[in-house]
Amino acid sequence: MNRPVMGGVAPLNAPSYVKQQKLLNWVAEIAALTKPDRIYWCDGSQEEYDRLCAEMVAAGTMKKLNEAKRPNSYLACSDPSDVARVEDRTFICSEKQEDAGPTNNWMAPAEMRTTLNALFDGCMRGRTMYVVPFSMGPLGSPIAHIGVELSDSPYVAVNMRIMTRMGKAVYDVLGETGEFVPCVHTVGKPLAAGEQDVPWPCNPTKYIVHYPETREIWSFGSGYGGNALLGKKCFALRIASTMGRDQGWLAEHMLILGVESPEGKKHYVAAAFPSACGKTNFAMLIPPKAFNGWKVTTIGDDIAWIKPGADGRLYAINPEAGYFGVAPGTNMSSNANCMSSLNANTIFTNVALTDDGDVWWEGMTKEAPAHLIDWQGKDWTPESAKETGRKAAHPNARFTVSATQNPVIDPAWDDPAGVPISAFIFGGRRSTTVPLVTEARDWVEGVYMAATMGSETTAAAAGQQGVVRRDPFAMLPFAGYNMSDYFQHWLNIGKKIEASPAEQPKIFCVNWFRTDENGKFVWPGFGDNMRVLKWMLDRIEGKAGGVEHIFGMTPRYDDLKWDGIDFTREQFDRITSIDTAAWEAELKLHAELFDKLKHNLPKELASTKAELEKRLAA
Ligand code: OXD
Ligand code: MN
Repeated sequence: MNRPVMGGVAPLNAPSYVKQQKLLNWVAEIAALTKPDRIYWCDGSQEEYDRLCAEMVAAGTMKKLNEAKRPNSYLACSDPSDVARVEDRTFICSEKQEDAGPTNNWMAPAEMRTTLNALFDGCMRGRTMYVVPFSMGPLGSPIAHIGVELSDSPYVAVNMRIMTRMGKAVYDVLGETGEFVPCVHTVGKPLAAGEQDVPWPCNPTKYIVHYPETREIWSFGSGYGGNALLGKKCFALRIASTMGRDQGWLAEHMLILGVESPEGKKHYVAAAFPSACGKTNFAMLIPPKAFNGWKVTTIGDDIAWIKPGADGRLYAINPEAGYFGVAPGTNMSSNANCMSSLNANTIFTNVALTDDGDVWWEGMTKEAPAHLIDWQGKDWTPESAKETGRKAAHPNARFTVSATQNPVIDPAWDDPAGVPISAFIFGGRRSTTVPLVTEARDWVEGVYMAATMGSETTAAAAGQQGVVRRDPFAMLPFAGYNMSDYFQHWLNIGKKIEASPAEQPKIFCVNWFRTDENGKFVWPGFGDNMRVLKWMLDRIEGKAGGVEHIFGMTPRYDDLKWDGIDFTREQFDRITSIDTAAWEAELKLHAELFDKLKHNLPKELASTKAELEKRLAA
C-alpha cells in the first residue's frame, strides 16, 4: 500500500481544474489534521462510481446484487450500532445558546472545536480522504448552494453521487471565489499499519456538529444516512434553515408534488411529515382508478427550498437529486412508482438478501421468501422470525436511488426557477385526536397548526418508538436555530407574501393514521390520499365546501369524492370526529410546548391558542 512515511502528509493531488485557493487550503488543512493515507478528488463520473463500488465489494462493505434481477445495484449492511440518525448526538454550536434554542443540543463553538480537534486528529489514518464537491439544487441555479464534503467513507462518496449533483462540474460553478459549505466527515476508525478493516467502520462516540455562524458541518463516528451524507439533513435543513432566516427564504422538511386535473389545471403542493411517515409514498402517489385523468408528479420527496419570487408567490426547488427512502413497507400497492424506480442502479442499505442475490424487506411481498440472509448477515426464515421476532430488514433500512429513475418525475423537477406552491400540508402520525384533514382559516392559524404538530416517533431516529412527541413543522430534529425564531420567520414570510397581489398558499393539516379499537388504520391512505388532495385543490379554487369547526375547516362526507371505494359515513366520522376531552388534553400539551419555547415565542401563537381554547370551552 502506498502510505505516506510516518508523520508525513499525503500529497494534495488536486486536479488542475480545481481553481479555488481557499478550497485547496482547506483540504490541505483538514488533511493535516485527519492524516489520511491518500487524498482522492471525486469527479462524479460513472467510471469512478463503478470503481468505488467494486472496491467496496472487494472490501466486504457491499454485495453486488444479481445483475439479471437488479442491474448495477448493491447491498450494504451497516454495523448494528449504526442504523439511524442520532439526534442526541447532534449539536447546533451557535455562539449564543439561545440561538440554538431549547429543542437543540448546544455546546459553545470554542469548546466543541477543542473536543473535535482531538477526535479528528489522525482519525483518517490508513484511509483515503475523498473530496466530494456537490451542488444542492440545479447546478448554477440562483436558488442552489454548493458544498464540499471531505469523507473517509467511499460509501458516502457513492451515495452523494446519487443524492446530489456531485462532481467536476461543481468546480466550474465554484470558480476562484465562489462560496461553499465545508463539510468534514469521518467514520472515526483510523487503521494502524497492517490492521485489517471491518466491513462497516464506525465509532461508538458520535458527534454531528453544525456551526451556523460559520456555516460548517463536522461529523464524527457514523457512516449512516443523515449522519454521514452531509448534504441532506445537515446542510439542506440545519445550515440552510439558518441561511434562509438570514436571507428571507425557507428550508423545509417537505416533499413537493405536482397535481394536474383532467382539465389540465396544475398545482404544486409542499407537504411536511416527520421521518418515515410516508413522504416518499405521497410524493409518488398513484390516484385511484376513479380519478381517471388526474396526474401526480414528483419534484422532491424530503426537502424543499422555498423562496419568494418577484410575483409574490413562493417558489420551491428540491435541493436533492435522489431519494434516500425507507424500504420496509414499500411495495407494489403502497408505492408502485417507487418500486419501479428501484429496478436498477440502486444502493440498498440494511435490507435482506435473497438466495438468488436480490433484496427483500418486510412488507415488500405478502409472503416472505422461504430463506434469506438478514441485514445482520444471519440466516432468516419466516418460521424462525415467528419465534424470535427478528426482522429480515432493519426497520430503518433504506434505498438510495437517483430521482431520474422515478417514472413520475415532474418535468420541472430540475428547473432552476423552481415551481410555485399553492398549498402547504402538515401531517403527523397520530392514532387518535387529530382529524383526517383541516384547513387553516388563515396563515397564522396554519403556522399554529404546524407549530403544535405532534407525531408518534419512528425508526428513522435512534430511540424509543411510537411515543407522541411535538414535532413542529416536522422540523424538530432539523431546525438549525431557535424554534420560536423559526415560527416568527414563517409568520414574517406570510406577511411578506400577503402584501402581494398573488394568492397566499393555503395551509392544511392532515392525519392519515387514526386507528380503530383494534389498533388498525381506518383510512386506507396511499393512493386514496388523492381524495383529500382533490378536496384541498377544490378549496384553493373555491369549488369545494366544508364545515368550520373549532380548529378550522374540514370537509363533510359529501365534500369528498368517494367513487371506487367503500368507505362509510361512520368510518369517515371516526377519523374526523373531534373528541373534546382529547383536545383539552392536547391543548395542555401545546401549552407545555409553548412554555418550553417561551423565549421569543411569537405572541400571535399564544393568541391563536387562546382563541382555540375559547371555542373549545364554548
Ligand atoms: C430522512 C429522515 O432520512 O427524515 O429523510 O430521517
Ligand atoms: Mn426526512
